[in-house]
Amino acid sequence: MNDVYEKLLSCLKSVREKTDFVPEVALILGSGLGEYAEEIEVAATIDYKDIEGFPVSTVAGHKGRFIFGYVNKVPVVIMQGRVHYYEGYPMTDVVLPTRLMGLMGAKILFLTNASGGVNKEFKPGDFMLLKDHIATFVPSPLIGANIGELGTRFPDMSDIYRKELRAVIKEAAKEEGIELQEGVYLQLTGPAYESPAEVQMCRILGADAVGMSTACEAVAANHMGMKVCGISCITNMACGIIDQPLSHVEVQETADRVAPLFKKLITASITKLAGK
Ligand code: 6GU
Repeated sequence: MNDVYEKLLSCLKSVREKTDFVPEVALILGSGLGEYAEEIEVAATIDYKDIEGFPVSTVAGHKGRFIFGYVNKVPVVIMQGRVHYYEGYPMTDVVLPTRLMGLMGAKILFLTNASGGVNKEFKPGDFMLLKDHIATFVPSPLIGANIGELGTRFPDMSDIYRKELRAVIKEAAKEEGIELQEGVYLQLTGPAYESPAEVQMCRILGADAVGMSTACEAVAANHMGMKVCGISCITNMACGIIDQPLSHVEVQETADRVAPLFKKLITASITKLAGK
């Protein structure tokens, strides 16, 4: 059997030895947004380190566990902390958790992240609904023998961030009175932030925000037929958009500042997404 699939099934077995929880929505929390998990009605938790073969994050401030529980009665699995390609894991490991949540039964993948604003209309603290992405600067997680049990060799990517789900999230935001931008997310490898010339390149290519995650996970989830949606928290403007150096501290500070609003938006969205 395909090595990648074998590892995935062994992780699934390990999870199933600990819980038989079947989530409807899988939620991945980005940097600084992890505390959302503390607010839900928890049914079970599993530390990543207790799942054999599971990639464990090395970044400070990224917790590493699955939380199973309910958001307004909707069964969810939350990834508190994800691994990034820049940590040195192969892309197949980076998306293993995503695929695992799909195999647990999650029909919808809800991605979140912190990103840098490339669109000059944006300001730090804005939320951006992902409309589409540019993933071609990072290796595809689908490179290698196709896992036919999950999906086809050449999957369609015409509606990665499902229009149907986006409409629901826009409605939720409106009801909560939360302003929501919409745009294209471009994934780069990191870990360095971009140079001003690189940010200019992103802009020319049509990106509204730039980050180091998410698109690869969206590709893997879409491949296996999950319905994907995502919201990015614009924690800062990317280099050269405003004339100011940036730091991980700034990213965390903005994420912390808008966290209460972000939580509200996620809760309202998940509640409305149930059954979609
Ligand atoms: Cl400016 N760039 C990247 N690649 N990721 C980010 C970011 C910028 N701000 C937050 N995350």
